[in-house]
Amino acid sequence: MSLASLESSRTEAAQAVSLSGLSKAYGPIEALAPLSLTVAAGETVAILGPSGSGKTTLLLLLSGQLGPSSGAVTLVGREIAQLSPGKELAQLVGMIHQQFDLVPNISALHNVLAGRLGEWGLFKSLVSLVWPQDRPMGMEALARVGVADRAELRAGRLSGGEQQRVAIARLLLQDPAIVLADEPVASLDQARAGEVIRLLVRIARDSGKTLISSMHSVELARAHFDRLIGLRNGIVQFDLPSSQVADDMLLALYDIKGLRRED
Ligand SMILES: Nc1ncnc2c1ncn2[C@@H]1O[C@H](COP(=O)(O)OP(=O)(O)O)[C@@H](O)[C@H]1O
Ligand SMILES: [Mg+2]
Repeated sequence: MSLASLESSRTEAAQAVSLSGLSKAYGPIEALAPLSLTVAAGETVAILGPSGSGKTTLLLLLSGQLGPSSGAVTLVGREIAQLSPGKELAQLVGMIHQQFDLVPNISALHNVLAGRLGEWGLFKSLVSLVWPQDRPMGMEALARVGVADRAELRAGRLSGGEQQRVAIARLLLQDPAIVLADEPVASLDQARAGEVIRLLVRIARDSGKTLISSMHSVELARAHFDRLIGLRNGIVQFDLPSSQVADDMLLALYDIKGLRRED
């Protein structure tokens, strides 16, 4: 192998995400205009932009839950369209939603252990509902996110902040290389939102995971993420290290004038 090809394979390995000409239209609406960019392994990226700007669409394309109208998504050197939807994809990418999506009538611990369903057979999954397998691992994850004392409570009885912590613990057991989050703290009060974002970013950094999250709060995004991408009407307005994003760029990003209708 030549040095050049070794170098290029190294560059690839250090790239968690690569998008080339990725776009998505819903009928006549171009939700996302063709977009090319790369995200390095371990980077933390926040996606900002007014409602309807294409943030969720971008995250769904990155997670393979939505097929693009054009272009391709490459995750850790592998094109997403070539991956099998089950275990292979789950090892590369996991997603946290705004509405936590836990199963409300089973315990927090069981919800966390469901993060391993991709690796378990059906039989073991069913048995786990009676006696949680890998229980110590699940407890460790709950302890890491600060809710070990809630393990046996039904998820539906937990507060919003606690539920989002359980969702993060579930992701720890899934252990994907890339963590996606869609406005993960939009439904929490400000203090809780800050705590959960700090936790999410710290966990990503500690474990070398790449984090890409759409964010409702500009302040939290600026304070905690390495890089900010501004989306407006499906078009990237800026893509910069957080420290270089100026106030006037943010004002222009959220300016109501010229914003397409969201319906
Ligand atoms: N399933 C869909 N069918 C038709 N239009 C959609 C669909 N999902 C999103 N859109 C439209 O695509 C655009 C981007 O939406 P979205 O990605 O949800 O933006 P954001 O997450 O930034 O609010 C909006 O104009 C929205 O109305
Ligand atoms: Mg959205």
